[in-house]
Amino acid sequence: MPQTIQIQQYGGPEQMQLVDLPVGEPGPGEIRIRHHAIGLNYIDVYQRTGLYANPLPLSLGMEGAGIVEAVGAGVTHLAVGDRAAYASNPPGSYSQARVMPARTVCKLPDDISFDTGAAMMLKGLTAQYLLKKTLPVEGLQAGDHILFHAAAGGVGLIACQWAKALGLQLIATAGSAAKCQLALDHGAAHAINYRSEDFVARVKEITGGQGVKVVYDSVGKDTFEGSLNVLRPFGLLASFGNASGPVPPFAPGILGNKGSLYMTRQTLFTHIATRESCQAMADDLFAVVRSGAVKIRIDQRYPLAEVARAHTALEARDTTGCSILIP
Ligand SMILES: NC(=O)c1ccc[n+]([C@@H]2O[C@H](COP(=O)([O-])OP(=O)(O)OC[C@H]3O[C@@H](n4cnc5c(N)ncnc54)[C@H](OP(=O)(O)O)[C@@H]3O)[C@@H](O)[C@H]2O)c1
Repeated sequence: MPQTIQIQQYGGPEQMQLVDLPVGEPGPGEIRIRHHAIGLNYIDVYQRTGLYANPLPLSLGMEGAGIVEAVGAGVTHLAVGDRAAYASNPPGSYSQARVMPARTVCKLPDDISFDTGAAMMLKGLTAQYLLKKTLPVEGLQAGDHILFHAAAGGVGLIACQWAKALGLQLIATAGSAAKCQLALDHGAAHAINYRSEDFVARVKEITGGQGVKVVYDSVGKDTFEGSLNVLRPFGLLASFGNASGPVPPFAPGILGNKGSLYMTRQTLFTHIATRESCQAMADDLFAVVRSGAVKIRIDQRYPLAEVARAHTALEARDTTGCSILIP
C-alpha cells in the first residue's frame, strides 16, 4: 500500500505521520499518479497548522511530478505512462501515489526532470500569474521597478529571474546578507535585508523618491504597512501570502490616504481553475525554463519520511530556493 503523510489534527511538524493508505482507481475526470518527486510549499505549513482549514484527517501537499498510472473516464489530455507534473487542490501530494482530478495535471516535457517538475509547478505558475497577470493599472514597462518580498525563497528566486527576462528592475527583500546575494545572483537589480534595513527608506532611495508601481507581498503581517508606503500613487499591493501571519483587518480609507492605491489578494487556484488556463500558464512556464532564462534551484532535498525536518527548516527561514521530498 502506498505511503502518505497525514495529519489527524492541526499543529506542529510532529503532527505529520507516515501512514499506509489504499489509493484505488480513478473516477471520471481523475487520474492516478505515482510520484517521483514532491514539491514543498509554504501553503503546506498553513494547512498543517490550520490557518487554512481542511477536513481532518488530512493528507498534505499540493505539488508533485511522476508517471500517470491510470486514467479515468473523460480524461483526454493524459494517457497511462505519461510523465506529468502539477500544482493542485485538493492536497495529497506527500505520497508515493494518489488519485486526483486530472484538470491541473500537465504533461511534463521530456527534457524537464521530475525533480524540477515537482519543484516548479506551484511556485512557477505563481510567479507566472503575478508577473504577467497581476499588474498595476498602468501595466508594467521594461525598466520599471517592482518590489518582491522574500525574494530568495522558492517563488522568489523564480520571480527574480523571470522579472529580469521581462526587463523589469526587481528590488528584492530577503532575511540575510547571503539571501540578498542569492537574489542578486538570480537577476534582482537591488536587494535589501529587511531584517536589518528599513526597506521603505531604501526603496524610496533606489527609486529617487518615487516608489514602485507594484509590490508582490507574500510575507503578510510584518510587511503590509511598509508595502503600502513604498507605492506610487495608483500603485498596486499584490498580497499573496502570510509567512509572518495574515494581514490584519484594515479600513479601505487607508488606500485613499496613501495615494488612491489598489490592493488585491491573489491565489493560484483561481488562475488554474480551468484546464485551458492551467495549460496555457504551464506552457509559458515550460518555455521560460527550457529557454534557460529561469533555472529552478532546488537547495533542499529530503526523504518523504523526513518531512517534519523540511517543515521545520521552511518555517525557521533556513531554506533558499525550492525544497523537494523524495517518496
Ligand atoms: N497565493 C498564492 O497563489 C501563492 C502561491 C505560492 C506561494 N504563495 C506564498 O508565497 C510565499 C512563498 O512561498 P514558498 O513556498 O516559495 O516559500 P519560501 O519563500 O521558500 O519561504 C518563505 C519565506 O518567507 C520569508 N519570511 C518572512 N517572514 C517570515 C516568517 N515570520 N516566518 C517564516 N518565513 C518568513 C522567509 O524568507 P526571508 O528569510 O528571506 O525573509 C522564508 O524563507 C509564501 O508566503 C506562500 O504562502 C502564495
